[in-house]
Amino acid sequence: MLIVGNWKAYVEDLKTARAVAAAAERAADKTRTIVLAPPAPLLAYLRDHTAKKVKFGVQDLSELPGGAVTGETTAALAAAAGAAYAIVGHSERRARGETDELVGRKAAAALAAGLIPIVCIGERERDPDARYLQGLRAQIDAVLGVLSPDQRARVVFAYEPLWAIGKAASQAANPDDLREMVLYFRKVFERALPQAGAQQVSILYGGAVNATNAAALVADTGIAGFLVGRASADPKQFAALLRALR
Ligand code: PGA
Repeated sequence: MLIVGNWKAYVEDLKTARAVAAAAERAADKTRTIVLAPPAPLLAYLRDHTAKKVKFGVQDLSELPGGAVTGETTAALAAAAGAAYAIVGHSERRARGETDELVGRKAAAALAAGLIPIVCIGERERDPDARYLQGLRAQIDAVLGVLSPDQRARVVFAYEPLWAIGKAASQAANPDDLREMVLYFRKVFERALPQAGAQQVSILYGGAVNATNAAALVADTGIAGFLVGRASADPKQFAALLRALR
């Protein structure tokens, strides 16, 4: 299982950062990979103060190479600071103007630097004609379309419907629905990957996940794990979530 904690800017001090990382350290074992995605300025510090069994990621990354790009976190920089993963296309970034094409370029930049991109996809709302499915397909195609066949197989997707993000646990996707969505995504993957490859792509779920709903969401839905926001930024809640997933 892959459990990614997207701290957003919920964590803004070293004490809390260390406490959450300690909870992750205690829970990490061979059966699961725990990835912490702190705000970028905390990354190298946490890498130096956390046991090796916890992995790190960035919450976003520049599509640009290094050089005269003030304020950008390039993929090489993220890797040098300890990241092995890069979240790209989070809805909170897309809300600030990121297009599907830009997200594709960011995924390519991550892979070129040896990082695994965690590509967030998700619909704002569901219309009765199910046109939102086309939007999700476009989000996927924009990423897989700019990658080589080898690179496509390394991408992790995180399905995060916007209507669930930041909400109460009762408003997360329900397991039956999630299972259907996973089947749909695998069909879409088949357009860019061989059938067996499409079955193997890791799909995470994110949006209102915590200790109370995580076990049911992973039980029989085909997801490989979670991208967790709020519940990953508090040491007690994160520890409870990790316990619930044992
Ligand atoms: P949430 O956020 O767990 O707080 O709903 C998930 C995310 O935005 O990645």
